[in-house]
Amino acid sequence: MSTPHPSARATPAPAPAVRAGRAVRKAVIPAAGLGTRFLPATKATPKEMLPVVDKPAIQYVVEEAAAAGLDDVLMVTGRHKRAIEDHFDHAFELEQALAAKGDTVRLDAVRDPARLASIHHIRQGEPLGLGHAVLCARRHIGDQPFAVLLGDDLIDPRETLLSRMLDVRDRLLGSVVALMEVPPGQIHRYGCAAVEPTGEEGVVRVTGLVEKPAPQDAPSRYAVIGRYVLDPDVFTVLERTPPGRGGEIQLTDALEQLASGGTVHGIVFEGLRHDTGDKADYLRAVVRPACERPDLGPEFVAWLRGFLGELDGTRPGHRDVAA
Ligand code: G1P
Repeated sequence: MSTPHPSARATPAPAPAVRAGRAVRKAVIPAAGLGTRFLPATKATPKEMLPVVDKPAIQYVVEEAAAAGLDDVLMVTGRHKRAIEDHFDHAFELEQALAAKGDTVRLDAVRDPARLASIHHIRQGEPLGLGHAVLCARRHIGDQPFAVLLGDDLIDPRETLLSRMLDVRDRLLGSVVALMEVPPGQIHRYGCAAVEPTGEEGVVRVTGLVEKPAPQDAPSRYAVIGRYVLDPDVFTVLERTPPGRGGEIQLTDALEQLASGGTVHGIVFEGLRHDTGDKADYLRAVVRPACERPDLGPEFVAWLRGFLGELDGTRPGHRDVAA
């Protein structure tokens, strides 16, 4: 789902200033899912590698982490995810060929993914759920707070959500989740949070969490979207968390444990987000930046206007013109 962004404009804003001395340096990106919603496109290509204009979706997520000052990214992958590893590695032959041609623009585009952060990969082995994927990161993370970014959620690069979450973690400690109000008919797709005010605008205390509740059981309309800043305590809880919804070890269930101890806060996000796991929203996630990009936008928007006119019958269609 998505909401219009009040400050949508063509050129991306500079990355938010990163506060010095933040406790969080590392990000974890779970990317072991099978991507069944996008078959057959995802039969041999990881869903995280589906293009959004001319970059794979996961690159936007790594760019978001890097823009918030996280310089160490661990991808938790599964089988058939070699393309992700290759994308964030050097491509020696391609780089040589572009360098020989003097094509510095494309050379930079090829080199950029590997320069974003120090990128590590680990395999989940068995698809035991998001909570288990996070637990796989334990050794790499150690005893430090860390961020988790889910690849299906694309947050507009002009937003400062992750940076705000890191600031809240620094001030209030514990864990921080990103929340978004959704229509009651959509809450069953998300983790749902019971909340109470903190007195600070946009920041709530999370008092309970339930994974993908039926609408009548949902404690609120606040959905957990795929950004988390987690206290390392979560590992101890995850170790003891039994399989929950769908027979999987749920991160939501571990956070519910921590929330009952009063150590989980939520940031209420009202900005622009796309769920690329949803086909219609994936298309919106592609069309919006295509319209806004200076190199593509003018021509593409002109075409789009004409096409919409065709669809609602106010302009002659391609076939009408050709006939
Ligand atoms: C996961 C989480 C869920 C969260 C959602 C956000 O679900 O389990 O709590 O609300 O991501 O995108 P998934 O979409 O992987 O089923």
